Amino acid sequence: MTFGIGMLLVFLITLGVAAFAQGINPPTDTKPVDPGKLASTPPFDHPGLRQLPDGSYEAYYIARVFSFDPQTLTVPAGKKIAFYLTSADVVHGFYIPQTDVNMMAVPGWVNTASHTFTRKGTYLLICHEYCGLGHQNMFAKIEVQ
Ligand code: CUA
Repeated sequence: MTFGIGMLLVFLITLGVAAFAQGINPPTDTKPVDPGKLASTPPFDHPGLRQLPDGSYEAYYIARVFSFDPQTLTVPAGKKIAFYLTSADVVHGFYIPQTDVNMMAVPGWVNTASHTFTRKGTYLLICHEYCGLGHQNMFAKIEVQ
């Protein structure tokens, strides 16, 4: 019992030193955004794909009960797509099977991940975070051309 409590204290102190003294945080690049004003907050006022002057691509997504906006996104194969994601209401998931894109959509925050689709075809985008009664119907499609 003493050993167990001692180990708990050791882990808590290690965690505290890493988080507060060394500034080590979860690997995320979050930015704040007002979830009630997404319709008037660029670039989330026009969710979807855009190409930057340097030729790179950004895809903006809004998750809400129980759908993604955009519902279908067409992206080019072989190009790196940077996904920017937020939620208009509750916490959702954002997972594209067969890729390494796996994020949480958190109201008030913008999460990012990027992926280069090498294979053409239709990819599924699913919510893998339980978000309510319609959770199992929450998905979208990504067409890679
Ligand atoms: Cu959205 Cu589950």
